[in-house]
Amino acid sequence: MSETLYHPGAPVICVVGARPNYMKVAPIIRAFAALRPAMPTLLVHTGQHYDPLMKDRLFVDLELPDPDVNLAVGSASHAVQTAEVMRCFEPVIDQHGACAVLVVGDVNSTLACALVAAKRGIPVVHVEAGLRSFDRRMPEEINRVLTDQLADVLYTSERAAAANLLREGIAAERIEFVGNVMIDSLRAGLGKAVPPAASLAAAGLEAGAIADGYGVVTLHRPSNVDQPETLGALLDALRRIAARLPLVIALHPRTRASVERFGMARALDAPGFLILPPQGYLEMLGLMANARMVLTDSGGMQEETTALGVPCLTLRENTERPITIEQGTNTLVGIDAEAVVKTAITTLDGGGKAGRIPEYWDGRAAERIATHLMAWLNKYKESPLT
Ligand code: UD1
Repeated sequence: MSETLYHPGAPVICVVGARPNYMKVAPIIRAFAALRPAMPTLLVHTGQHYDPLMKDRLFVDLELPDPDVNLAVGSASHAVQTAEVMRCFEPVIDQHGACAVLVVGDVNSTLACALVAAKRGIPVVHVEAGLRSFDRRMPEEINRVLTDQLADVLYTSERAAAANLLREGIAAERIEFVGNVMIDSLRAGLGKAVPPAASLAAAGLEAGAIADGYGVVTLHRPSNVDQPETLGALLDALRRIAARLPLVIALHPRTRASVERFGMARALDAPGFLILPPQGYLEMLGLMANARMVLTDSGGMQEETTALGVPCLTLRENTERPITIEQGTNTLVGIDAEAVVKTAITTLDGGGKAGRIPEYWDGRAAERIATHLMAWLNKYKESPLT
């Protein structure tokens, strides 16, 4: 058994690795700083995402401080990437100690750092716990299930998550419903959102193309973009939709690489396609907020569109965020090309699904986490490892 590195006076180590982590951690760091006394934090970036467009830009947009430590692990197979994060993260806690390690979401960095912390006797805090797609082919599902098993404190963003956790044997007293921290970031950023015309102009595209409305598309899941048949059929469905409504497509590096590898570059030339590089946070908010609809396989955008009241068509067979369907503006469409086109046209003709804002998606989730965690850590100090 290794020596425990739990130190009550040491910081909470907050981990980010990939794009969807930043909007979750930014409000939490601010809420920790606003506590009296402030909660000391150490921000670690694993380097899972490293392109300036996938990283630096978003830090500025979200007013996230520069990371205190960057592990610079980069891309690799899941096994190698996860192992590299673990190998590089352990010396950081050796050096700094920690009173807790806080991880968010479901990326490889989330699981890797949770595992290192748990083995070194440091409490693990998981934000966005309990979401389940019940699809183990999704790498994120494996990360979610395992991180939740390791966590000492589990903060949930929707009520259904607690039932998933209880079913997996997690004690009720570890689970706390706090709401959705990503919506904290959305509310903080909305006033500064970049107008869509400016984002198009920055990419050298004519803003006039979207004067009569547009849709926004993002695609990056391996299950959608790693096989030529699936990606080809999806691009063809999008081409048919773009004949009715111009589509602004923010292209993820994984998707761009697939398009090139499969020799499909010409498919991106379709009339009505407006291809952009990965966007900053404030650009993406502006694009989504003003769109007639969003087509995506992203997890976060299903929630953001619900908060914005914009219809979302999710190009997946399942979602780990059922509240966006039950209460929000999300429709699960799958990836059958005919179904995608048909649902998009129905949405355009009928105006799309109207929703309501789910409970505790009120911009104050991070504040709830900070207050609860401060009390929890004070209690834990009295009797660690209970
Ligand atoms: C990761 C997350 C996913 C999240 C997504 C958001 C996991 C298992 N997946 O998927 O949940 O929705 O981030 O973007 O953690 N690449 C670059 N530059 C970068 C990062 C990646 O060019 O800064 C390229 C690399 O070729 C890499 C590929 O994109 O192989 C995929 O990146 P990776 O981090 O492995 O997974 P994502 O698909 O981004």
